[in-house]
Order: sequence, then C-alpha cells, then structure tokens
Amino acid sequence: MTSTTPLGTRTLGGLTVSTLGLGCMGMSQSYGTASRGESIATIHRALDLGVTFLDTSDVYGDGHNEQLVGEAIAGRRDEVQLATKFSLSRTADGGMRIDGRPENVRVCAEASLRRLGVDVIDLYYQHRVDPRVPIEDTVGAMAELVEQGKVRHLGLSEASAASLRRAVAVHPIAALQSEWSLWTRDLEVAGGGGAGGDTVLGVAREHGIGIVPFSPLGRGFLTGAITTPDDFGDDDFRKDHPRFQGEAFQANLRLVDAVRELAAEKGATPGQLALAWVMAQGADVVPIPGTKRRSYLEENAGAAAIELTADDLARLDAITGPDAVLGTRYPDAGYTYGDSPER
Ligand SMILES: NC(=O)c1ccc[n+]([C@@H]2O[C@H](COP(=O)([O-])OP(=O)(O)OC[C@H]3O[C@@H](n4cnc5c(N)ncnc54)[C@H](OP(=O)(O)O)[C@@H]3O)[C@@H](O)[C@H]2O)c1
Repeated sequence: MTSTTPLGTRTLGGLTVSTLGLGCMGMSQSYGTASRGESIATIHRALDLGVTFLDTSDVYGDGHNEQLVGEAIAGRRDEVQLATKFSLSRTADGGMRIDGRPENVRVCAEASLRRLGVDVIDLYYQHRVDPRVPIEDTVGAMAELVEQGKVRHLGLSEASAASLRRAVAVHPIAALQSEWSLWTRDLEVAGGGGAGGDTVLGVAREHGIGIVPFSPLGRGFLTGAITTPDDFGDDDFRKDHPRFQGEAFQANLRLVDAVRELAAEKGATPGQLALAWVMAQGADVVPIPGTKRRSYLEENAGAAAIELTADDLARLDAITGPDAVLGTRYPDAGYTYGDSPER
C-alpha cells in the first residue's frame, strides 16, 4: 500500500499540520551514511505527497540537518510546517549538554533561523528540559520569540507531566514531542514520566497539547527490516542500543513477528501498521517517522489510509503492552532523557 490519496491534516494545539510528518534527523546522523541528494529528494517527495510537517533540530548533525532542510524547502517555504528544537548540544568528549537558560534560547533561535534560511519557525521545541533552569524561565524566553514573530508555536520534547503543567502556566504549548510507539508506551503509564498518578498523555490532553510521537517505527525495528544487529555500521547508533543487542534483540523480534502477522491480514506492511496504531491513538497525534529515502517515505505515507478496528487495536495492545519489550530506550540511564524518567 503506497500513498495515492491526499493525506489531510491534523491540529496540534493551534497549529495545523499534515496527518503525518517527516523526521529528518537520519539525514544527518544516527542511522548510517546518508546521501545528500537522496535526502533532499525525499523532502521534495514528501511535500509532493502532502507530508508537509518537517522535523529537525539544531543538534542533528550539529547544524547540518537544519541547513539541509533549509536548502530543500527554499522556494517552497509556504507549503511547510517547520519544526525545530534547541537546548541540546554535544560536548567535546562526545557527551550531551542541556542548556535551557533564556540567553541560550535567544542565541539558538537566531542560529536556527539563519541555518534554515527562514524568517519564522512554525513550532519551536525545547529538546530536553534543563533540570538546572526553572522551566518558567525557559518558556518565558521562548514566549518572547513568539511576541517578536520569530516563532509561531511552542513545544516541549520528553517533558514530564509536572513540567507540562508549569510550562502552560507561562504560555500555551502546542505540542509535546516524545517517544511513543508499539514498543515504547511510557506516555500512557502513570509514573512513566508522570507526576504521581498522572500520565504525561493525560496531562497533555487536559491542556490541549498535541502529541508528536518520535521514533514511531521503533528506530526501524518495527518495520521488520532489521533481522540482525550485526548489520549496523560504526555510524549507526543502534549498535550501542540495549534493545538491539543480544538476548533483547532476539526477544524483541517476537514483537515484530506479531505485528507482521496482523499487518498481513490488513494488506499493510509492519511499519505501516505501527504508524497506523500511533495515528489511531487520537486526532491530536501526529507521528514523524524518519527516513532519508523516497521509497520508505512513500510506504510510510501509505499508513494514513489504514483503518484499524477496535478489535485490531485490542490485539495490538495485547501483544505490545508497556512491558512487552526488553531493553531501555537509550544506551545508558540519564543519557538525554531530560525530565522524562526511564522506566
Ligand atoms: N525529540 C527527540 O528527542 C527525538 C529523538 C529521536 C528522533 N526524533 C525525531 O523523530 C524522527 C523519527 O524518529 P527516528 O528517525 O529516530 O525513528 P523511526 O522513525 O522510528 O525510524 C527511523 C529508522 O527507520 C528506517 N525506516 C523508515 N521507514 C522505513 C520503512 N518504510 N522500511 C524500513 N525501514 C524504514 C529508517 O531508515 P533510513 O534511515 O535508512 O531511511 C531509520 O533507520 C527523527 O527523524 C527526528 O526528527 C526526535
């Protein structure tokens, strides 16, 4: 099933975007070598198909990704809902730093606008909440960018329920971008990034915050295309990823087999079923599957046409509940979880 019908739109807070977006991170890092030409062709094909919600960050390729996206959308800016992020950067020793200080918000926004070659960013996220800076201060500085016309809507990524509540007291938050997929369901779990008995999802919905699931394909695993971890090259971060190693990898393959079985019944691919499941969680949910290839993009866009019945959803819930997967989300606890605790 590939995409033949217009995709349609969904709304995140006050921002209307395509039903499904395109994650551009892999065009600059994480999943092996990328071809610049094919990456740009993928973004162009996305726009042609109506996949107009593009996701980048200043940290992806240390600015490379924003430049690439900027080059690809030059002349087509008005077709795009452009999302980028600030607050994460690499340290000299290869680690990650979080900086939510107001002065950093201003510097980062100017640099992103310049690299993207645009006058305004449609959705500007804090990539990780900085535990050393009150979120009110960070969001206050982000709100000034809105007042100045440099940013249209604000977002947070991997924020806890408590941070969401504090942030919306300063300025409306249009979107929460966090990992959510058939194998990562922390958003739905009380205490899985929630405060007390709250779920992050519940608090987001209470405040009209749309949800943007990242890594909705389980970093490619849920497509069924990865059959051995031995294929990952040195420039593929999944080789260090607990879910892709040893016993965990083998155990997690059972999850893919179950997804594959239901996908076949629906005339879909496993990846399309994984995306359809996320989209079926509500009209306020807009996944951003990542790819650097036109062929995968076309397949992924086809997921928007798949309708899941209550019975399909119940079957998927039964095989992919919160405890169905082995291995943590990132290589080591505290890596870049921000204030969204690892389960
Ligand atoms: N806010 C955050 O902290 C955060 C964290 C991670 C990601 N993100 C954002 O979310 C986006 C999506 O997440 P993600 O890229 O990490 O994971 P993902 O979308 O779950 O998976 C991406 C991987 O799946 C592969 N793939 C995509 N479509 C496929 C298909 N139809 N068949 C087979 N393989 C397929 C891609 O291959 P190719 O690379 O070869 O195309 C890539 O290796 C990112 O691009 C980024 O914009 C945000």
